[in-house]
Amino acid sequence: MSVHHTPSARQPASNVSVLVFESLSYPELLQQARGLLAGEHDRIANAANLSALVFESLPDLNWAGFYFFDGHELVLGPFQGRPACVRIPLDRGVCGAAARTRSIQVVADVHAFPGHIACDAASNAEIVVPLILNDGTLLGVWDVDSPLAGRFTDTDREGMQALCALYLESIQSSATS
Ligand code: SME
Repeated sequence: MSVHHTPSARQPASNVSVLVFESLSYPELLQQARGLLAGEHDRIANAANLSALVFESLPDLNWAGFYFFDGHELVLGPFQGRPACVRIPLDRGVCGAAARTRSIQVVADVHAFPGHIACDAASNAEIVVPLILNDGTLLGVWDVDSPLAGRFTDTDREGMQALCALYLESIQSSATS
């Protein structure tokens, strides 16, 4: 699939003109993500583009996106997939568990996870990475769902953590660089 070059008012979108969407390995995906996020620091823009890149580049996903912590609960951010629940309390679901414990959740069978929130009946496996800013505050979580039970392996765990590290770096690096 090719991506058309769409100039923005600010600058030409040269970072998207080179993207190729196909099934990618994590090193390839990380390389594309690096190019896509380069020079942009806006957390919504980078979250939106990273969601789209991952959703288009990894096989067997039905949802990929962000929830941001508003100081009280998780609130839906940019994503790809079917419409999802907007607010998730920290004591609910896989996302709440990742945010509350600040540890990655890799769930082979979401139906066996206590408190799992079924936004899309097609979801059977899920991986959720907590997003922690450099100052230690919780930004939110990165959530990816699959219709395939057991879809997420240690390779996905490491790859998703690396993608999240890249995202966090992009939004916290100097806006003048
Ligand atoms: N299943 C998640 C809710 C979010 S959706 O998957 C997009 C959970 O249990 O936290």
